Order: sequence, then C-alpha cells, then structure tokens
Amino acid sequence: MSNHVNRTYTNEELDAMSNEELARLGTELDDVTVAFRKERFPIANDPAEKRAAIMVGTWFALGVVLAIAFLGIYLFWPWEYKYLGEEGLWTYSLYTPLLGLTMGLSIICLGVGAVLYVKKFIPEEISVQQRHDGPSAEVDRRTLVALLNDSWTTSMVGRRKVVVGLAGLGAVLAGVAVAAPLGGMIKNPWKAGKLGIQGDGTLWTSGWTLHDEGVKLYLGRDTGNLAEEHDGHFSTQGVSRLVRMRPGDLAAAGMETVFPLPEEAVNDGDLYNPTRDVYEEHMHSIHGPRNAVMLIRLRSADAKKVIERKGQEDFHYGDYYAYSKICTHIGCPTSLYEAQENRILCPCHQSQFDVLQYCKPLFGPAARALPQLPITVDEEGYLVAKGNFIEPVGPAFWERQS
Ligand code: FES
Repeated sequence: MSNHVNRTYTNEELDAMSNEELARLGTELDDVTVAFRKERFPIANDPAEKRAAIMVGTWFALGVVLAIAFLGIYLFWPWEYKYLGEEGLWTYSLYTPLLGLTMGLSIICLGVGAVLYVKKFIPEEISVQQRHDGPSAEVDRRTLVALLNDSWTTSMVGRRKVVVGLAGLGAVLAGVAVAAPLGGMIKNPWKAGKLGIQGDGTLWTSGWTLHDEGVKLYLGRDTGNLAEEHDGHFSTQGVSRLVRMRPGDLAAAGMETVFPLPEEAVNDGDLYNPTRDVYEEHMHSIHGPRNAVMLIRLRSADAKKVIERKGQEDFHYGDYYAYSKICTHIGCPTSLYEAQENRILCPCHQSQFDVLQYCKPLFGPAARALPQLPITVDEEGYLVAKGNFIEPVGPAFWERQS
C-alpha cells in the first residue's frame, strides 16, 4: 500500500495521533483522493433522519415478523399428507407454499432494509485510490483500523441502535428459519414405536414384520387407482389401491412389485365392499420405506437351475421368488429385471444380482444378497407371505456374512 511514504512513523508518534488524524494519514499514505464526500445527516436528531430510521426499521421489523411466521408455520401448520378428497387437503396443500412465501419475503425485507440503510445513512463519497503491489507496512495496518473505526462512526450505526438491533435479530431469525427444517431429520433410529404397516420405526422392521404378530399378509399389487369423482367431489371410498394376486396373474419371466396387504385391509374380489375406504392404509403400505418386494416368476427351465441359499430352500413357491426391492448397497429400488439373464440391476450404481442364486451380487458395489421373503399361496389360491424377512432389509451396514 504505502509505496509513497516519504517518512517513517515511530510507534510513539502513531500513539500520539487521534483516530481522525490516523484516518486522514491513512488516506494520504494510500494515495487515496476523496473527490466528494457528503454526510447524509450532519446535524443530530434531524427529523428527516428519524423518518429514514423508521422506514429502514419497518423493513427490518417486517423481516423479523415473517421469519417468526415461517417458524410458526413450520412447527404448527397441519403438514401430514392428505390424499385427494380427504378432509383438510386444502389446508395441507398450503403448507409448502406458505413456508416458501414467508421465508422468501423475510429475506427480501431484510435485503431491502440493508439497501435502504446504506442509501440513507452511509455518507455519499467518491474516492480514488492507486493500487500497489507488495505487503502492507505496519503504518498501513494501523491506519486501516483507524479508517474502519471512522466508517463505523460516520455511518451512524452507533446512533441507530434500534435499527441495528432489528437487523441483527432479523438476520439471526432468518438463519434459524434456514436451519430449523434440519431439525425434522434428527431422530433416534433405535427407538421402536408401535408396529404398523411401515414397521415400528427401526431400520430392521418393515410392514412384513406384522407377520410375526400373526397378521395374514397378502402380496398386494399396486393398481395405481386414484380417488374418484362422485357428485362433484373426489372420494376414495371403494377405491382399492392394492389388490391380492394369484400366481396366474404373472406371466413367466415377469416381475411385479408387491407390498404387504393385511387381511383386514383387503377390498377386492369376493371381499369387495364399495362403501369401505381402505385407500389410506394401502398408501401407507406403498410408502413404507422397506416394504417393496419384487415378485419374480422364473421360466420353468430356469427354475430348475436355481441354487437355493442354505436355510431358505423353501422360501419360494414353485417358480415364484420374492426378493426385497431395496438395494443392499445404499437403498435404491433395484427395479430392473433382465429376464434373459435372470439378473436384477440397480440403476443407481449398477449393482447386479443373480436371481438364480438367491440374488447374490455379481457386479457393482453391493456386497450382500437381496433378502428373500418366504411366500406361498393360501387356501383360496392367493399369494401370501409365509413369514417375515429373516434378515434386515436395505443398505449393507448390518453385520452379516453374505
Ligand atoms: S444403491 Fe444399488 S448399486 Fe448403489
């Protein structure tokens, strides 16, 4: 900076200078020429200054109120999923837009407040400085600090405590508003709740675990049915999203994704009742993170080549095999069934599993076989689970030998 210093300054000389003198010296030493400078409000308690302060404070206050509104909506607004036709759908559908609106407007208000603050309170100034290479001298560092002090004083930040306080509060609340949604991700993965169609909340259970409680579970095929319109409004009454399957519903070399369908939630075939509403329970089953299972029907010739895994010899039903759809690498759905090769491919990182050898991995980063679900048919000929998985479903962080 100070390549044009004509003399050196001792520490004593610098100590003896006032802040104003140091600031002036700093500009001179830095070859800075102040071409124009005008204080916004040179006289304290100018009514115009108060009006400007109220305007800036209003924007900051609005930012604070909107940040608080964001937090209130995030914590208390009804957020749980409502399907088409269900009561409360309209309120639920406003949840995400309101979050975006309040956070966006809060940040805009704080930004407008900051811009107005600079325009109303920071002195107008045009300065020209020559740039120099090389490290800064001690005198430069001292004078720079003095200049910063000078900026603080002349910007009147010290005189505008309420405005500064509101700006600080708004910035803190905006930061909290950004960080608060992360709180929803914090939970104890070991804490078991009530066992339901999505398991009990722990990673080693799923909807299929209900079988351990004596619940009869059909292999439910997703029909994709949606709420239907009756007399101008949508209703899911009588709409069955999951339906039971018989072996004949799947052609040889075919694959179908199935979900646990508890006996009391069946609403198809001879049990169909048009006034029943089982849609929500079916959707919970479909959304269960470890519920999806691939039901595969091998060609009879291929089925003869199958090598069963020890302890799982009776898990299949004839040519039908059921494997978890959740990849044992990091949990993507392993949806691609290559019938020619009898391989299952995970599209995320290209792991391949051999259906003819208990779905053990052949290629890619997955190190464990896909867990197999024991299946059979009931007395009416529907495909049902014969038991629960005998190992945890999903990514390979479990202690397992295969
Ligand atoms: S998640 Fe399937 S290969 Fe990575």
